[in-house]
This record gives sequence, structure tokens and C-alpha cells, in this order.
Amino acid sequence: MKTTIAQVSKHEGEKVTIGAWLANKRSSGKIAFLQLRDGSGFMQAVVAKSDVSEEVFQTAKNMSQETSMYITGTIVEDTRSPLGYEMHVTDLEVIHEAVDYPITPKEHGTEFLMDHRHLWLRSKKQHAVMKVRNEIIRATYEFFNDNGFVKIDPPILTGSSAEGTTELFHTKYFDEDAYLSQSGQLYLEAAAMALGKVFSFGPTFRAEKSKTRRHLIEFWMMEPEMAFVEHDESLEIQENYVSHLVQSVLKNCKLELDVLGRDTSKLEKVKAPFPRVTYEEAIALLKEKGFTDIDWGDDFGAPHETAIAEHFDMPVFITHWPKDIKAFYMKPDPNREEVVLCADLIAPEGYGEIIGGSQRIDDLDLMKQRYEEHGLTGPAYKWYLELCQYGSVPHSGFGLGLERTVAWLSGVEHVRETIPFPRLLNRLYP
Ligand code: 4AD
Ligand code: MG
Repeated sequence: MKTTIAQVSKHEGEKVTIGAWLANKRSSGKIAFLQLRDGSGFMQAVVAKSDVSEEVFQTAKNMSQETSMYITGTIVEDTRSPLGYEMHVTDLEVIHEAVDYPITPKEHGTEFLMDHRHLWLRSKKQHAVMKVRNEIIRATYEFFNDNGFVKIDPPILTGSSAEGTTELFHTKYFDEDAYLSQSGQLYLEAAAMALGKVFSFGPTFRAEKSKTRRHLIEFWMMEPEMAFVEHDESLEIQENYVSHLVQSVLKNCKLELDVLGRDTSKLEKVKAPFPRVTYEEAIALLKEKGFTDIDWGDDFGAPHETAIAEHFDMPVFITHWPKDIKAFYMKPDPNREEVVLCADLIAPEGYGEIIGGSQRIDDLDLMKQRYEEHGLTGPAYKWYLELCQYGSVPHSGFGLGLERTVAWLSGVEHVRETIPFPRLLNRLYP
């Protein structure tokens, strides 16, 4: 019977066949231990000289890394392995012999691994990170579907910019100019006026010349947008959503977190509600901590975010930022016009901002004033203004960066390991 490594617990004591690759191997005179991977997981297969033909034993002993095979044997319990099972091999058929696989179990430099990303993905750690990524995506759909949201797919090719024009990827759209989407937000606001609560999950593009552990040129964003939801209510949804992601990964990715050596005690305490500080309070806190380089009106850099996160040791919302350093669509605080009703959610352990969100302007005159201040003209923006014209309502939304969230939950240092094929400054291949 054909099965997969993920399913072996259902086949204890049975003889099964698995399609697999050789990840690693060690052997002595009479026994070979094959570390197999089949995509669904990793498992040890034991080939004893006494159990198989001489030909099969020699094949197993001499097999090269990444050789593909159909391997047959009995599934037996093995309490020492994380999987809990191993295979006692009775037969083995090589499908394709791999010669000189470049990625060996020894350490390689980052550039070498990035050049071989198409192969590097096969390694145990990268496999675990992709499984964590998948779990976050699964739990996202679960959370938003369970809470009455409708999935909406905004366009990738756009004529407008949501987050400012400096980071846009330009392309031609026949005879017109177009840009790759930085955020689906403006379209999601339109959709929220049609469907109430909506969310999107898709690729976004930023021509940012930043070479940091937190920046990708192409990254994926979850963007919910909600009609009749005000700033504080949005924060509650954000903290419930992030708690759900963390708890889902803890529950469903135990093997993966173990492979990654993730300290799960830090994740276990991540439960809503999250602490909240205003921008002003955050500045005061930074000054107390000895940051002399920051004043009211400045944006935060990575060291500032990390210092705030360390102080709370939980995801923390920094709210009410100065209007001048935030996007044009954010609603001013009615009590203090110089700040806007927005929040960044900063992840613990130095992983930085994972969510940016705000209540949106819903007043036509104010939106027109913002258009003037930001020089937004032409058909690309005309339609968005009309949202304030026909039954405008209070509404809020946010965007969660998938890769930064994967990095945080997996405990990997750099976002380049959290997406299958990262697009980075100076890297378009593989
Ligand atoms: O804070 P940002 O720019 O917010 C928006 O785009 C809003 N329009 C979202 C919304 O309200 N619908 O980006 C949101 C999140 C950030 O908090 C961060 O997690 C991630 O997207 N992000 C990046 N991730 C990787 N590489 C980059 N270059 C990123 N830029 C933003
Ligand atoms: Mg932001």
C-alpha cells in the first residue's frame, strides 16, 4: 500500500511503500540508516543486511543524497524520533540517482544557499518554515471566515498608490502608466462598502532600497477592511487575529517548531489583549531608555521598535502617530488633529512591525483637502473620492505582513527564509 510519511501513524505494523528522497544517510557493516523525506515529512528507514537482498543492501549503502526512490517496509514505533515511527525496509527501487547534490548537511554561506534556493527549499529547516507559513495562511482564512468576512481579490496592476509614490514599481499598461500594487487597501475600502467586512490575501510590491532582515521587495499581505468599525474595535480584531495565528501555529506545528528550535514559551503567552501605548508615550519611554536621537515627529527605526517590544515582551500597539508621517487616508483624532487614529503592532523579540492599520477618513471635504496636500489627481484617484460621497461610514482596516509574521513565529532571523522564492534588493533569481 502506498502512503506518505505524514500518514505513517495510521499504518503501524503494516507494510507500506513511500515515494521519497534520500536526505541523509549513515551506515555500518550490516545496517544502513536512511533519512528520508517525501514532502509530507522526514522519517528514518532502517535497512538491515539480513532483511533484504544483497543488491538492495548495496543500493541503500551506496545511495547518494537526493536520490529518489520507492521504498517498502514495515512501520514500527520509535519513541526516540520526533515522528514516533520508523520503517524497517524490505525492498527499495531507485527512481532517479542524484549526482553531486550541491547542498550537503554541512554549513553553507547565505549567498550560496540563496543561489540554490530551488534546492535549499528541500532542507528540513526550510521545509518547517514553509509549513509554518502554510499554517498561518490556513488560520487566517479560518479566522476571517468564522468572523463573517468575505475574501476579496484587489487588482495587482493599479493606477494609484496607497502608501506614497516613492516605492512604486512602474510598468507599462499598453499606452498608460501602471504600478504593481503596494496594498489593496483602497479597493478593499470600496468592497467593504459593498460587503461589510472583507479581507484580501495577496502579493504586494515595494521598490524599497532597504536591505534589512525585515524587508522584501515582493511580500504577501493580509488586509481586512471593515465598515462601521472604529479604531478601538479594529485593535480588538487585530489582537484576536494575531492570538489566533500564534495559538494555531503552537497547536498544529509542534514538529516544525521543534525542528526550528523555537522557544515556544515566548509564544505561549501571546494572548489578547495586547498592551497599547500612544506614540507620545513610546517617545517618552525611548528617551527614558537613553535614546537621544528621537523626537516628536520622527518615524521609528528598527532599534526603537525593538526597545519598545523588549519593554513589553508581548506584541504591542503603538497608536496615535503624527499625521505628517502617516498615509493620506488616515482619520485625524477628533480630540487632537495633529495625530491620526492608527496603530502599528510591533512583534516581540525584535521582529518589528507586523501590522499597520488605521481608521480611514470618511468625510468628503477632509479627503479633498488631503488630495490637495498630497497632489493626488486624475482618474486613478477620482473613484476613491466617490466612496466619501455616497453613504460614507466610519470604517477601519489593517495589513499584516505575512513574512514578518512567519519569521517571528518560526524564530528565523531574516525574512528571506520565510517566502519560497524571495525577491530582494539585487536578487531576482532563482
Ligand atoms: O504598514 P504598511 O505599509 O500598511 C499598508 O500597506 C496599509 N495599506 C495596510 C492596510 O491598512 N490595509 O504595511 C503593512 C505591513 C507592515 O506592518 C509589515 O508587516 C508589512 O506589511 N510590510 C513588509 N513586509 C516585508 N517587506 C516589506 N518591504 C514590507 N513593507 C511592509
Ligand atoms: Mg507601516
